[in-house]
Amino acid sequence: MKNLIVLSHPLVKRDLTILRDRETKSHSFRAILRRTASIMAYDVTQDLNLKQVTVQTPLEKTKGHIVTDSIILVPILRAGLGLVGGFVEVLPNARVGHIGMYRDEETLTPVDYYLKLPKNLSKSLVLILDPMLATGGSAAAAVTVLKEKGARRIRFVSLVAAPEGVRVLSKAHPDVIIYTCALDRKLNEKGYILPGLGDAGDRIFGTAE
Ligand code: PRP
Ligand code: URA
Repeated sequence: MKNLIVLSHPLVKRDLTILRDRETKSHSFRAILRRTASIMAYDVTQDLNLKQVTVQTPLEKTKGHIVTDSIILVPILRAGLGLVGGFVEVLPNARVGHIGMYRDEETLTPVDYYLKLPKNLSKSLVLILDPMLATGGSAAAAVTVLKEKGARRIRFVSLVAAPEGVRVLSKAHPDVIIYTCALDRKLNEKGYILPGLGDAGDRIFGTAE
């Protein structure tokens, strides 16, 4: 799986364990997902382009840097929203687009219902955010939409990925690097990731209670 980067920071492993735990309630789930997203943001943006600038410290002038890349975050609604706060914390200048997509429960195919994107996709680094990469249908469809709208440099950021989803996304879009915190075992017959963490949207928003 050459397009796949599995983030293995010890703090990510610790937090993912809490997120997987079925006893973790929505308020903790949201806070820990946000924290994990911030840590992930560092790895996903390791190769950002910088411009050298001069900064005046209280004592003297020295060299510093600013980021020159334009960054666009695109969460896939709903669950992708859970990653946005953590990313904008470390990328405060990022612009945010939204793609609304849900899986049809019978066919598991994605149904899109909303799209609002910033301008200049073609000149930006576009980070698609969705905690779950299961069959890969939603991810592949989101990348297709973004490419149709002009995006050229796209990364897919997930928390947990199934091998099936990685294969589908890589085959459909070999140019897209996939980041995840865990490559799990497989999908069950209902398309849920095993061991996974359950329905990410329900766990973030408390809609299963
Ligand atoms: C979940 C998840 C992904 C999708 C992954 O969303 O957040 O978007 O499923 O599954 P796939 O790889 O098989 O397409 P869901 O459809 O449950 O919608 P929600 O975020 O609104 O709960
Ligand atoms: N969507 C989720 O929220 N969880 C899964 O395990 C699969 C798809």
